Amino acid sequence: MIKEEPPTVVPPISDPALEEIEIHTIKEGYSYVRTIYDKGDNHYKYEVIEPILSTDEAEICKFIKETLIKTLESKAKAEYEELMKYLLEEIDHAIFDHSIYISPLSKKKIVYYIVRDFLGYSKIDVLMNDPMIEDISCDGPGIPIYIFHRIYESVRTNLIFTDDDEVDSFVIRLAQRCNKHISIAEPLLDATLPDKSRLQASLSREVTTRGSSFTIRRFRADPLTPPTLVEYGTMSSQMAAYFWMMMEYGASGIFSGGTASGKTTTLNAISMFIPPQRKIVSIEDTRELNLPHENWIAGLTRASFGSETASNIDMYKLLESALRQRPEYLIVGEVRGREAFTLFQAMATGHATYSTLHADSVPSAVYRLENPPIEIPRIMIQTLDVMSIQVSTKVGKKMVRRIKEITEITGIDPTTGELTINTIFKWDSENDKFIYYGGSKILGEIGQKKNMTYEQVEKEMNQRAGIIDWMRASRLYNYKRVAEMVSEYYSYPENVLKRAGGV
Ligand SMILES: Nc1ncnc2c1ncn2[C@@H]1O[C@H](COP(=O)(O)OP(=O)(O)OP(=O)(O)O)[C@@H](O)[C@H]1O
Ligand SMILES: [Mg+2]
Repeated sequence: MIKEEPPTVVPPISDPALEEIEIHTIKEGYSYVRTIYDKGDNHYKYEVIEPILSTDEAEICKFIKETLIKTLESKAKAEYEELMKYLLEEIDHAIFDHSIYISPLSKKKIVYYIVRDFLGYSKIDVLMNDPMIEDISCDGPGIPIYIFHRIYESVRTNLIFTDDDEVDSFVIRLAQRCNKHISIAEPLLDATLPDKSRLQASLSREVTTRGSSFTIRRFRADPLTPPTLVEYGTMSSQMAAYFWMMMEYGASGIFSGGTASGKTTTLNAISMFIPPQRKIVSIEDTRELNLPHENWIAGLTRASFGSETASNIDMYKLLESALRQRPEYLIVGEVRGREAFTLFQAMATGHATYSTLHADSVPSAVYRLENPPIEIPRIMIQTLDVMSIQVSTKVGKKMVRRIKEITEITGIDPTTGELTINTIFKWDSENDKFIYYGGSKILGEIGQKKNMTYEQVEKEMNQRAGIIDWMRASRLYNYKRVAEMVSEYYSYPENVLKRAGGV
């Protein structure tokens, strides 16, 4: 039997300046992604390889799509499988009704594009299916789409939206996929895509002068867990254990860092340490948190049409209402405006509160908190227990994420009026190691509450660090498994310790 030609044949690289680094299959026979190193400009490039349509095939594809648009509208709410079945039937109908002659191979290619464009994410569908991609950004028409790759970092792709119309209609469609609305009157959108990825988009040249743009932060179905973050070197197992103690005790924390430094990921991971029965209320602009807890109300602000203040009012209102729901743990995705005041009020009244903040050091975080638009009085800032500072940086040639320091806010110096702080852990960038200074006020408070000496509390923390090391060694990374282990530790610590090898 003659082997059938696949719809996509990966073309060889002919340019000697280009070197193929790796190639991955996204959909066998149809789509591939190839990383290329360009020796000319010393940059990596990311190539999406899909079926190539001949002029005739492209015409037929366009024609069938046009006939389908009308019939598909009535099916907008159907499930994926049903839609797929319907789409395939309709393609056959269109081909039959219009007496179109195409070869089986051409048909496969056309079906690929129709399914990709109607049910998938059309031009960026392949990018949305590559698990190595963190972010996808389109800065405007005529500018190649860039991705942030887990290994190669910021890389240009071979995909491009050619003109205003193409990117405008794509952005409008993305908004529709989120059941949201974007228009010239309301040109900014923060939303969650059906696969839970976070979308930020702008329409037209009025707010973003290079034309419509969008950024997608890809969602991870399996959130990163503390043992994984230890494996990645983002924190030590002892730091993870410190967070575990802090979360159990309900000490409040703010996770600071630059854009995409991994603040939300760290907050989500260590929230897995919240005792399983506790009531958690979270508030976010777009849904990013993913917790294993059952007793969890996940609040979401309404669309932040246009103005910044409108979104903040929603966040603020939601927070006020969250407090009436008696949460034991309150998580706010990110603080930016006056909702921070309510968060600090909640902290002052004994709630365990957590949030992320855009700042890359303790002084700049304090500065951001004290100044407009947040404006928290210093006296309230001292109710915050812990601040973690995270960076995205290089170790050698590799891009890594590290928690630069974990610092406790201890009070206010009565003579200078300055906040007093105490750094418990610090990252030694030269040796890529974490230093533990100890002397933690929080561990001391835990001791007082539990009638334990500081040394006993510290021993407990180190025991938990041993459990995290053991989870790592046993490749126990999945968040459900990690949550089970944490839950078991709360009920039967000796069982877990025994399994972890009596650490
Ligand atoms: N410690 C880590 N190691 C490796 N990858 C990470 C780590 N933390 C986060 N990531 C990845 O980095 C990307 C950004 O992470 P995250 O959303 O947590 O950052 P952020 O600081 O909250 O960003 P933003 O400022 O946009 O809110 C995600 O794709 C995430 O999976
Ligand atoms: Mg974030």
